[in-house]
Amino acid sequence: MQLELSGITKRFPGVLANDGIDLTVAPGEIHALLGENGAGKSTLMNVLYGLYQPDEGEVRLDGAPVHFTGPGDAIAAGIGMVHQHFMLIPVFTVTENIMLGVESTSGPLMVLERGRARRRIVELSEQHGLRVDPDAIIEDLPVGVRQRVEILKTLYRNSSLLVLDEPTAVLTPQEIVDLFEVMRSLKAAGTSIIFITHKLNEVVEIADRITVLRRGKVVGTTTPETTSETELARMMVGRPVQLRVTKAPSVPREPVLEVRGATVRDDRGQLAVQALDLEVRVGEIVAIAGVQGNGQTELVEAITGLRPLEEGTISIAGTPISADPRRVFLAGVGHVPEDRL
Ligand SMILES: Nc1ncnc2c1ncn2[C@@H]1O[C@H](COP(=O)(O)OP(=O)(O)OP(=O)(O)O)[C@@H](O)[C@H]1O
Ligand SMILES: [Mg+2]
Repeated sequence: MQLELSGITKRFPGVLANDGIDLTVAPGEIHALLGENGAGKSTLMNVLYGLYQPDEGEVRLDGAPVHFTGPGDAIAAGIGMVHQHFMLIPVFTVTENIMLGVESTSGPLMVLERGRARRRIVELSEQHGLRVDPDAIIEDLPVGVRQRVEILKTLYRNSSLLVLDEPTAVLTPQEIVDLFEVMRSLKAAGTSIIFITHKLNEVVEIADRITVLRRGKVVGTTTPETTSETELARMMVGRPVQLRVTKAPSVPREPVLEVRGATVRDDRGQLAVQALDLEVRVGEIVAIAGVQGNGQTELVEAITGLRPLEEGTISIAGTPISADPRRVFLAGVGHVPEDRL
């Protein structure tokens, strides 16, 4: 599908989220949309998907102007979207989730339809390397597999333009390799893909073309062959960015935070952190690396007193803390939460 967005402007009270955006995506092209937090990427995609009406501008598919009053219109026109937060029903099977909204899921014809849907899902997943068990229940599946279900859902609806909003944020490095294989397979079959990410190495690896947004405006469109990660970072931020910094070695002193054998459960009662030891000393910056959903949130909540410890101890400057955010605050701990709102 050939997509042309021209002069798309979208205002929210006090914010010009999209400011006269032009963007074209060719059939079978992987087009990366790059920009800092708040640059307007999701807003533009929501306009394309019929969730928002643009204040100005036009969307054309294969040359013809279209007006979407909701996602139903966009889906009917062949646009598929995988949101940052998945929209699957946890207690339903893969097949049921994919069928939902397309075919009647009750009544006497259900069994027949379900069999047909299941066969088509198996076919699509084999064709594009989207390994899933069509009979698995969503809540039993890891996040990487749920994402494949979301992609299958769009393919089942015959989408020829797929929007992936930060799909790699929730994936492990191996799952990212697998997703890129799927994207290449879809591209080979003629599907156009708009790929949103913050990770410059991914953009350079997978994109055919790259459009950079900053403060709601297009800064430029380029290709991996003619740009570099340094240049992309500069376009995103609007000034030169050093991707590698030189710094003096740290001279850490006594421990200020000591976590010993910490075990913490998540909201569903599952073990999120298991017997974790961690020490932060005065004068050092400690990074915790991991893919979203691997216990970082629960660990931070335990350290800040927002979540009880199942086992183990946490001490600040030698004094054990309890699940009491006020006391943790008075002990001198500041907390900038991950939720930006
Ligand atoms: N529904 C809304 N109401 C008001 N303001 C909004 C709304 N949605 C987005 N905005 C604002 O519009 C701007 C663009 O937001 P948008 O979500 O499109 O950015 P983004 O590029 O997707 O960022 P991120 O990388 O954080 O997902 C931001 O300033 C945001 O606060
Ligand atoms: Mg966004």
